[in-house]
Amino acid sequence: MLKTQMTAQQLYEKLKNVKLGSSVCQYSLKKCEELVPLINEINELKEEKNAVILAHSYISPEIIYGVSDFVGDSYKLSRDALATSASTIVFVAVRFMGETAKILNPEKEVLVPAVMDGCSLADSIDAQTVRDLRRRYPQHTFLCYVNTRADVKAECDVTVTSANVYKVAQNVPNDKIYFLPDKFMGQNLKNHMERQGSKKDIQFYSGTCYVHEEYGMDDILKIRLEYPEAKIVSHPECNSTIIDNSDFVGSTEQMLGFMRQTASKQFLMLTECGLSARLQSEFPDKQLVGSCTMCKFMKSNTLGDILRALKAPVERDRVLLDEAIRRRALKTIEAMFLYAEK
Ligand code: 13P
Ligand code: SF4
Repeated sequence: MLKTQMTAQQLYEKLKNVKLGSSVCQYSLKKCEELVPLINEINELKEEKNAVILAHSYISPEIIYGVSDFVGDSYKLSRDALATSASTIVFVAVRFMGETAKILNPEKEVLVPAVMDGCSLADSIDAQTVRDLRRRYPQHTFLCYVNTRADVKAECDVTVTSANVYKVAQNVPNDKIYFLPDKFMGQNLKNHMERQGSKKDIQFYSGTCYVHEEYGMDDILKIRLEYPEAKIVSHPECNSTIIDNSDFVGSTEQMLGFMRQTASKQFLMLTECGLSARLQSEFPDKQLVGSCTMCKFMKSNTLGDILRALKAPVERDRVLLDEAIRRRALKTIEAMFLYAEK
């Protein structure tokens, strides 16, 4: 039995300001009363099984504020996965994030309860394509975005996340870099390096995130007319016109950090809706302007699936990796820690 059970009122205090789109992302006290028994059952089971729940910021708010132990961007969560002493990690996100946790913790059980097993970026490239590219660019250091499968990482040299891509590219001791799979992030990296006076040759692949590629200059122009004081905050998976017209660009965790620090009161968030929900919950004096887009893969995690995965995981909940691939992928993540924290 849990020492302290969460009450519907406590959950409601966290969620009452979240008001996005349809009723799916709006919370009444009654809805919280319905959610709380499931939340307490999960928290109890977590204790019993020595499990922790890591949740990406794009996940539904009732999961973030009801059952998660760690919340953040891909970089922070990979660090959290490395630091935990729990024997089971439930990674409430997309599969490649669970794979990163498993690469770092081969002895732990890693579960990903998401029902939709994908990510448009991770699915845009496979290991054979990387092998072919390496033959075409034999002099280049291959940087792979964390949004790739383990077998793709295994073919690369260094993993990067949105939190450290510029720094890692700068620190890698090679003037020739091939970045994959996101073409917008690749272009943004190239532009950033040029602005810094770097002469590095940056080549990149053609993948996109279906959520971030939706955003265009129209979204910014509309908001600038209606809310001239609003800060434009964007993720580096957006196209370079968006990036050039933003007040701040960074990983999801860095975007929240910017909002925390700035005195501004209005924000247009050009990223997945989960981050907008965190803004509404955690910064009630700040106002979200404009709309956001949902990632169907991230949102395919539910409290019901977390409970199922904790109680009796089925085959597809489990992250299992070929050991040779895991070891090669691990080298690219260790290289990231080295270059990102230099
Ligand atoms: P972050 O690492 O910035 O959270 O990004 C992950 C992601 O999937 C963005 O679409
Ligand atoms: Fe993948 Fe885009 Fe979803 Fe992030 S938002 S998990 S990149 S599909």
